[in-house]
Amino acid sequence: MKAHLTRRYQFPASHRLHRDEMSDAENRDVYGKCNNPHGHGHNYAVEVTVSGQVDAKTGMVCNLADLDQFARVNVIDTFDHANLNCLPAFAEKVPSTENLCIEIYDIFKRGFTRAKVEKIRIEETSKNSFEYSG
Ligand code: NI
Repeated sequence: MKAHLTRRYQFPASHRLHRDEMSDAENRDVYGKCNNPHGHGHNYAVEVTVSGQVDAKTGMVCNLADLDQFARVNVIDTFDHANLNCLPAFAEKVPSTENLCIEIYDIFKRGFTRAKVEKIRIEETSKNSFEYSG
């Protein structure tokens, strides 16, 4: 019996959508207010969905404590209160929430082995959310 488990984490971080290869006018045109030189912040809500067989003994897909521990060490400690533009992950990539989704998905996919990582969903604002599932 396979089941899905979704866990939600929240952290604030800032970013600025900007590409050095483009002119200032192009950047403003493409990114609008998100190109503001001083950046802006979001309270990101990250949902990770994992799946697996329901363990006959524990009744669980995976131990939430294991998932939380992995998320804290590998995701929250990196991104919480960070300026995303300054992180190595975004040295070459614009720190859009699409790219943040892909980055966090790759971190879980590479390192979390207790269940199958299915999807990352990030709420950037109450109006915007993004999903990536590989
Ligand atoms: Ni933004």
